[in-house]
Order: sequence, then structure tokens, then C-alpha cells
Amino acid sequence: MCGIVGYIGKKNAIKVALEGIKRLEYRGYDSSGIVGFHSDLSHPFLKKSVGKIASLEEKLSSIPNASCAIAHTRWATHGEPTVANAHPHHCCNKRIFVVHNGIIENHEFLKGVLSREGHKFISATDTEVLAHLIERGLGLGSLEDTVRDALRHVTGTFGIAVIDSQNPHVLVAARRGSPLLVGVGNDEYFVASDAAAVVNHTKKVIYLNDNEMVVLTPDGFDIFDFSKKKLNKTIDTIDWDIEESKKGGFEHFMQKEIFEAPQVVKNTIGGRIVYKDGEVKLGGLEPVEERLYNVNRFVIVACGTSYYAALVGKYLFEEYARVPVEVEHASEFRYHSLPLDKNTAVIAISQSGETADTLEAIKEAKRKGLLTLGIVNVVGSTIAREVHAGVYNHAGPEIAVASTKAFISQLVVLALMAVYIGRMRLLTSEQAKVILADMLALPDKIVKILKQDAQIKAMAGRYKKFPNFLYLGRKYSWPVALEGALKLKEISYVHAEGYPAGEMKHGPIAVIDKDFPSVVIALRDSVYDKTLSNMQEIKARRGKIIAICENGDKETGNHADDVIFVPKVTEAISPILSVIPLQLFAYHMAIARGADVDKPRNLAKSVTVE
Ligand code: F6R
Repeated sequence: MCGIVGYIGKKNAIKVALEGIKRLEYRGYDSSGIVGFHSDLSHPFLKKSVGKIASLEEKLSSIPNASCAIAHTRWATHGEPTVANAHPHHCCNKRIFVVHNGIIENHEFLKGVLSREGHKFISATDTEVLAHLIERGLGLGSLEDTVRDALRHVTGTFGIAVIDSQNPHVLVAARRGSPLLVGVGNDEYFVASDAAAVVNHTKKVIYLNDNEMVVLTPDGFDIFDFSKKKLNKTIDTIDWDIEESKKGGFEHFMQKEIFEAPQVVKNTIGGRIVYKDGEVKLGGLEPVEERLYNVNRFVIVACGTSYYAALVGKYLFEEYARVPVEVEHASEFRYHSLPLDKNTAVIAISQSGETADTLEAIKEAKRKGLLTLGIVNVVGSTIAREVHAGVYNHAGPEIAVASTKAFISQLVVLALMAVYIGRMRLLTSEQAKVILADMLALPDKIVKILKQDAQIKAMAGRYKKFPNFLYLGRKYSWPVALEGALKLKEISYVHAEGYPAGEMKHGPIAVIDKDFPSVVIALRDSVYDKTLSNMQEIKARRGKIIAICENGDKETGNHADDVIFVPKVTEAISPILSVIPLQLFAYHMAIARGADVDKPRNLAKSVTVE
């Protein structure tokens, strides 16, 4: 959802900022731009381009030396992806340049006021008002004071970086509602939407909170709140490496991330299972342990793939912890009068930790005085810092827009939490040991599934021409069906619908014919017989079936056209295995149909607008 980078230091700032937005391209890729200056340059060096960052790079055949630069990769909210709408935006006399992530909600009003004062607008964006607002205040104080003053007039969300061509030794950045961090290097300083943009230069970062701003110069930085109070903030250390954000020999990030699943499961479990006692240790929840004993209901809020993980979480928590759970689309949570009492806890699940809808749901829960917990992958992200307590996924950076390894790790965390909370209640050590033993065995089982990659690729070749798919599953496999369908549609643009298998006969069965294939998760679990009946209903209508079956199941395949096998495991954690063939199928379908897997159209990884 737009990525911004700013740099001031001894290296060529334009090169550093460009490299930075390349690492943030997953946040948006419909257009990009960069501006830099140096005291020797008579004019700012400004370049913008429509499309992926590669097209901007093509325009940068000769890059002048610059000591200060800001850059932006865009995911359009206001105004089509055009060069005029690409950031950086500037004021009338091209003195002030701004890059922005977020939405200025009162931009129409501000544009009206500024236009009447004589400011000329050249884009259809909300961001351009910021450049003119800052220009309007020039001369009344430092750049920092002018930016602060301009932001007083703004409603909405922003992570911004601002530079002034007449003062090339200062870069000012500020945040409200959109992520922003400061990278602290040796005589060089950065601002960025995400640590991925700076990690190859420095691992030392400071996460800005809402209503905070930073002033960078070649000699250092100062952080203030919006009332001008200087702040002393902790420097955090990024715990992952640049190598983790590279493709590492794979064709695409999505493929790499699917193949990382065995290691991801190990990392998510790492040090958290005390098998001999049938216990789970979750350090992040210890500070709220007392309160957790009294929780009599959970509400889980999340979006997209994380929402589907939450649906699995509901089944897990209800089975193992015996606590009722409701799962809410985070974007809807605030709009209905869900009766909540002080013993309700709200859990947010978010890979990025920046999803605006999920963040707002958590803020609402906090306003109501509820305990809030997070299941978040990105360390130090806004949601991770907003919740009272939580559990990190430890899945490592997820770069592909389509979430795969984060989903796997979310399911693992949810299973760990179900046992952790279950053991505070009625779950015995022996019962816990059964699921924990199976969890420890997951990595090897995933390796066996990944070995079927070539077979799944060949299958995608046979199904690539079908424009519609139905995905079906029951109980724990229902969210897997939903996630499989989402993966297919988001990266290959094939229409797919996920349904609880039992719902098929209440409507969807009408679409089934020989040209409308179904993907059915048909494991030998507690609902196997019923799922098998649904497969027979499809076959009676000449529908093709791809079935996900358990190893050793010789029968179910007789009712399917194609079968992918997954190892047997405790039903509650079966989604961790059964989703993997569906991720691979979506990946190969997208390739077979010539789609850009890592950068699907219209999508961005981190959705920081509501
Ligand atoms: C789908 C996908 C999205 C995200 C959703 C929530 O592959 O990635 O549906 O799951 O935007 O994002 P997070 O988990 O970052 O809150």
C-alpha cells in the first residue's frame, strides 16, 4: 500500500533510495518515482514512471551524485496510475518534495483553499496538498516546524518524507496511521515504510509511533512528537538478514515461501513446546496470563488469508480450550453492536501488522477496555505494538503478495495458543501431547507434500483452461477451501469460490457441469463420509474433481479425476498440510496462465487504507 524511502548520508542517495523502494515493491507497483539533490546540483533530480520499478530504473541511465533523496512505490488510491499522479509530489516552484503513504481525507477541502490562494495543482492525488501546504508555511520557521504546522490541517493517515531543495541537508518525516521507521547507520540515516528497505545497510531501527516526526541530517537525527517535545526512543535490532528477503534460487518469492514451510513451522514452534509436560510456553502471553484465565470468549479479527486462519483458530480454540470464539472480518468489527463484556478478549491476526482494518478493530476493542492479543509476523509493526500482548509468527519476511508461509505459521501459532489456553482449563497433559507430537512431526510431512510439486505443476497444465473453480471442505477443511480459492483467484485471476462442502447442495451445485471443476479436501477425518457424499453429488453432474486425500487412502481417489496426497495428522492441524497442495496449484496455474505471480494486478501486500 505504497512504500516510501528516504536517505541522507555519504552514499549516492538516489541509488540507495531506488534500491530501497525495489525492496518495498510488494507494497505497491503501479508507478514509482524518486527525487534527490546535492549542493552541486542546480536542480533537483526528479524521475517518475508508470508501472513496475524496472520501468523507473530504465529512465535512470545516468544517476547524478546526491546526498539526500526520497522515493516512492505507489498503489493508487486517489488518481489513476499516471506519471503526474506518481510521487514525489512537489509544490508550485518545485522546492518542496513529498512522498506519502496513506490517505489525506480532507484533501478536497484543502485543495479548494490552496487553489483559491493561487496554488496550482497538477495531479489528481490527495498527496499533492501536502507539498502546497508546506510551501505555504515556508519562511516562518525550520522545515521541521513548517511540516508540523502543515500537518495540523490534515485529517487522515500519513507516513511522509519531505525534502526542501534549498536546504539539501535536512530530511523530515512524520507518521500518523501509516508505518514509518528510522534506520540508523554509520553517518547515514534512513526513513522507510518497512525494514526490508534498510536491512542491507543497517539492522538498527527506531519505529515511529503515531504523531511523531524525525529530522534527519548527515550528522544525526532527532525525534519529536507533534507538540515539539524531543523523544528518546529505543533502538531495535532487526533479527533477520538481507538473504531472507531474496529469492534464493527460486523463480518467484511465492514459490520460495511455499518451499520454506518446513523451516517456518520449525521456527514458529521453536522453544515453545515442552513435550514431556504436554505444555506450551508462549513468553509473549505471560504478562497477561492472569487475565487469560478469566477470558470466557474470544473474538478474532483479521482480513483475507489471516481471516481464514482465524476460522481454523475458532475450531481449534473451541475443541482444545473449550472457549467460544467468534471470527470477524476486521473491516466489519466496528460496524455492528457486538455485545462484549470485560471477559472477552480480542485477538488480531496480521502478517504485516499494518493492516488498517485490523488495527482499527484492535483500537476499538481497547477503547472498550478489552484485553487485546496479536498474532503478528512483522516484529515491531503497528499492531504488534498496539496490542496488550501477543505471539510472533517467526515466519521471516514474506515478500510475495500472496500470503503462504505466513498462513502456515498463523495456523501453528493458533494451535499452540489453543493448547496453551486449553491447559489453563480442562485439557490434560496427555491430550495435549497427542497434538503436540503431531505438530513436532509436521516439517517432515510437509517435505513429503512438496515432493509432489512436479505432479501438481502437470495438473495445473491440464486445468489452466477452466475459468471457474469451486473449492469445498468441511469443518477444519472449510477454511482451507476458502484459502485455496483465494490463492487461485488473486494470482491467476481465475474465478474461484470456497464453500463449506455441506452448503453446496443449497445453491452452488447449480453451477456444476463438466466445465466447472471442484477442488475437494477429502481427508479421512471426522467428517469424511459426508464429504465423500458431496463428491458423489458432483460426479453425478459430470463435474471434474481434484481431491486432496490422505496417504494410503485408496478409495476416495476413485471418485476424483486427480488426487494429491497428504500425510495423516491430527485433524485439528490438518489444514497446515492440506493447504500446501492448494498453494502450489494456485502458483502453477498462475504461471501456466502467464500471470505475474509475485505482483498480481490491483493488489498490494500491506493494506494500510480502510
Ligand atoms: C492474500 C493476502 C491478503 C492478506 C490480508 C491481510 O494472499 O495476503 O488477503 O492476508 O490483506 O493482511 P495481513 O495479514 O498483513 O493483515
